Formats: sequence, C-alpha cells, structure tokens
Amino acid sequence: MGKVIACSNHKGGVGKTTSVVNVGAGLARLGRKVLLVDMDPQANLTQSFGVNKPEYTIYEALKGEHELMPIEVNDNLDIIASTLDLSGAEMELSSEAGREYIFTELLDPIRDNYDYVLIDCPPSLGLLTINALTAADELYIPLQPHYLAIKGLTKIIEVKDKVRKRLNRKLEITGVFVTQYDKRKILHRDVVDTINTYFQDKVFDTKIRDNIALAEAPSMGMDIFRYNEKSYGAEDYLKLCKEILVRQEG
Ligand SMILES: Nc1ncnc2c1ncn2[C@@H]1O[C@H](COP(=O)(O)OP(=O)(O)O)[C@@H](O)[C@H]1O
Ligand SMILES: [Mg+2]
Repeated sequence: MGKVIACSNHKGGVGKTTSVVNVGAGLARLGRKVLLVDMDPQANLTQSFGVNKPEYTIYEALKGEHELMPIEVNDNLDIIASTLDLSGAEMELSSEAGREYIFTELLDPIRDNYDYVLIDCPPSLGLLTINALTAADELYIPLQPHYLAIKGLTKIIEVKDKVRKRLNRKLEITGVFVTQYDKRKILHRDVVDTINTYFQDKVFDTKIRDNIALAEAPSMGMDIFRYNEKSYGAEDYLKLCKEILVRQEG
C-alpha cells in the first residue's frame, strides 16, 4: 500500500516545496516509486520540474473533469501538476457534499502504483490542505529555525487534531525537520533545542542547511541531485531520505 505523506506548514517560505521536490527525487534515486502532488495554486513544484503548460492538472481532477493523471518527470518519479486556476478551487468546491474527501477518492485508484505519495500543500489551512490531510497517512512539517516558527505551529496542530477526529483517524505528525539551517547562528541552535523538546522523537536528525544550490535548481527545472550532486543540499536531502526510509521500512 503506497504511503501518503502530506508536507504542510501554513507559513510560506519554510521549504515545503523544496523538500517535497528533493525528498521525492532522492527516494526515487534510492529505487522507490514516487508520486508528488502539487496541491498549491502557485504551482512551484510543477515549475521546479520544468513542467510549464501541463495538459492535466489537479484542478480539473478535483472538479471531476478527469482522473488524476500523473506526468513522468524522471525515472521512478511522477507528478500531479498544478496551475494558478487551482486558486479558485476552494470556493468552487466549498458547497460540494463530501468536499474534504475529493482528493482521497481521486488518489485511491492509483496510490498502490507507488511506494510513496508526497503532497506539497499550499501556505494556508483551507480546503486544499484539508483534502491533503484527509488523504494522508502521515504529516511532515518543515520549519525554519526562527523564534516564531513554533508559535505558528499551534494552528496546524489544531487543524491536524480536527482532521484526525472528524475525517481521518490515522493521521499523525511523524516528521518535523529544520530547513535553511546555519549552525553558526546561536538562534538556530536554540530553536532546534526547543523543537526537540516539543516534538521529541518526531524530529529528524538531519537538518537541511542553507544552500544556494537549492534555491538555484528550480530555475533550471531540476532537482538538487541533477543540478549539483556535490552540493550540501544534495547531501542533506539524501541523508533525510535515508532517515525517512529507516523510519518507514526499518
Ligand atoms: N535549504 C535552503 N537553502 C537555501 N534556500 C532555500 C532552502 N530551502 C528553500 N530555499 C529557498 O527558499 C524559498 C522558499 O522555499 P520553498 O520551498 O518554496 O518554501 P514553501 O514551499 O514552504 O513556501 C525558495 O526560493 C527556495 O528556493
Ligand atoms: Mg511551496
């Protein structure tokens, strides 16, 4: 059964998309069959793979126009693309019966074609994120090491608890990790201590360092392994992937 992991944090710019792209690419390199779902109207994940005018998108699928249509972007790696149109979906779907389950229903027939399905959520906690959390087995939260990073988390934990109670009893936070980390900064080390105290064994040992190659790769339509395999970014995301596989597969 394909494992479905939603990557969410309603704060923007924390590394959700970068992490879904590069964890996805890393797991694919490690031989797993991976599907990435772009659930964000900004379509950054889609663009990160150089997919510009996708024929099929999550938007039309959510509206019932077609099934989920994966686009192959590399060996073992498919994506469900997004477009700006998706920004209208929350309003358009808001009065549908069972609106929180639309994506779960779409994913059902194809999830077992994959070992892992990773969902890149938008920077909000609206209906698109709820659809992702309803379909997910697990929730990963990327964080930037700032003082306010933890404060903002109460909201996403509240939403996770509600989804768990009403829509998806299996949903759990199973992974928290720090991105854009600079170990020379005392602030960063302090925030990591706080995160460890709060989330304990949910926190991954791997910290994703601040690395310019990670910011450059999307403009070339490449993941970090194709863009610069020798970068810190590639090293960190590969390490994170291996940690994920140990947790998932032992
Ligand atoms: N570890 C990192 N080092 C340097 N830049 C990063 C790193 N992670 C993400 N970025 C850059 O920071 C910005 C925000 O990251 P992104 O993954 O788009 O965040 P989100 O999806 O949470 O909004 C992007 O321009 C991205 O390229
Ligand atoms: Mg994003």
